[in-house]
Amino acid sequence: MPEINFTEKVRELLSKREGVHTAFVHTYGCQQNFSDGEKLEGILEQMGYTIVDSAEGAEFVIFNTCAIRENAEKRVFGNVGILKKAHEENPDMIIAVCGCMVQQEHIAKKFRQSYPFVDIVFGTHAAPRLPELVYKHITAKKRQFDIGEGEGCMAEYLPIHRDDDMKANLPIMHGCDNFCTYCVVPLVRGREKSRLPENILAEAREIVAAGYKEITLLGQNVNSYGKGLENKITFAELLREVNAIPGDFRIKFMTSHPKDCTRELLEAIRDCEKVCNYIHLPVQSGSNDVLHRMNRRYTAEHYMELVDMAREIIPDVTITSDLIVGFPGETEEDFEATMELSRKARWSMTYSFIYSKREGTKAAVMEDQIPHDVSSNRFQRLLDLQTEISHEINASFVGKTTTVLFDDEVDVGEGYISGRSYENLVVRAPRTDVQKGFAKVYLKESLGWALDGEIIKTEEI
Ligand code: 5AD
Ligand code: SF4
Repeated sequence: MPEINFTEKVRELLSKREGVHTAFVHTYGCQQNFSDGEKLEGILEQMGYTIVDSAEGAEFVIFNTCAIRENAEKRVFGNVGILKKAHEENPDMIIAVCGCMVQQEHIAKKFRQSYPFVDIVFGTHAAPRLPELVYKHITAKKRQFDIGEGEGCMAEYLPIHRDDDMKANLPIMHGCDNFCTYCVVPLVRGREKSRLPENILAEAREIVAAGYKEITLLGQNVNSYGKGLENKITFAELLREVNAIPGDFRIKFMTSHPKDCTRELLEAIRDCEKVCNYIHLPVQSGSNDVLHRMNRRYTAEHYMELVDMAREIIPDVTITSDLIVGFPGETEEDFEATMELSRKARWSMTYSFIYSKREGTKAAVMEDQIPHDVSSNRFQRLLDLQTEISHEINASFVGKTTTVLFDDEVDVGEGYISGRSYENLVVRAPRTDVQKGFAKVYLKESLGWALDGEIIKTEEI
């Protein structure tokens, strides 16, 4: 039987209705999820929808959700609820919820039972079937659910609508095999699976040809890239191949798991002129006892060896980290060990989180869950220390010259444009001096949270 082209069928249905058919994808969470969201936008465009940047007045709204912390989940329920009235007023409106959150049985059940105005619910693997779900929903006027088992990843060859005009995400793998005891990702995104290098390189070439200036290679643990592929290739080798693509662009990647971070990778960063001098290396805790219970499979000492090796191999490298405070059983001493590691590792920036209990994870049933007031007090102390360190790191770059990709991502005050340096530092310059794109910059002064840059004119280089 010939396969039904549901994308075409939805297009036909929409063409019979008047007006522009608008769609908004509201993505929460990590860059991987944003990348999935861009694919959903690509699929929507193919079906005949025009992508807009707000839910207000949109005919189709998709909530692409994140399950990593409870707060993100609460926000989703709140924002979905807000659309109930608009849905009542417009019978053609479609509301869909997808992504990591709905992979959890109790959440899918909640949408099914308590959110009857949500028309389509689909899991992380079901995006390629979105046109079919939309078609069936419109024609049968019935709610559609597609969750269950599957390949935990976005299929190859899906269309893509890139939200940014300078920076492009490029997923190189999906899922995670690590089972950190606090983390729901392996439960909702499934086992780790690497994409074929030839597909990654072809996509990278397309991105460069389309004029993007930065590619971020994405995976939950990029350092274990290649596992399970027929033709063996390491992440460091892949990095060198992306670097060899001709063009005016730079490369970043995330996330690196310390247990799989190797000298080979650090040397590749040093050797590849397009790869930024920057590595995101989440430590999570400075206490070996907590790290053990988190199943991170390294010690604070091993982590510091990596940091020292990175600084020795890569000149001016900056390192960022993720940290969790209030993991079950975290004592004041354990927390002090995290503070101590912060002082030693000197990250340029960190993403700190208060531990959030996630159903189905090992940590959720561990004894001695930490009261919120204790966690938030520790969180604030850690943040204060990190602010001090980040300012010191910025100050240590004053007087240096670097390359900045100006893209206006961060709001840095009236009259200024922002960008990120080759070392991932936030730099600003007067709008009158520079446009979006790469520029050579002299780092003149530290503002604490950012650096004031002076554009070096090409004739001065
Ligand atoms: N609670 C708090 N933070 C978490 N992270 C992952 N799971 C949890 C959780 N249950 C954080 C980790 C990870 C980042 C993406 O999110 O620090 O590196
Ligand atoms: Fe979660 Fe750990 Fe996998 Fe990261 S490496 S996604 S923290 S299980």
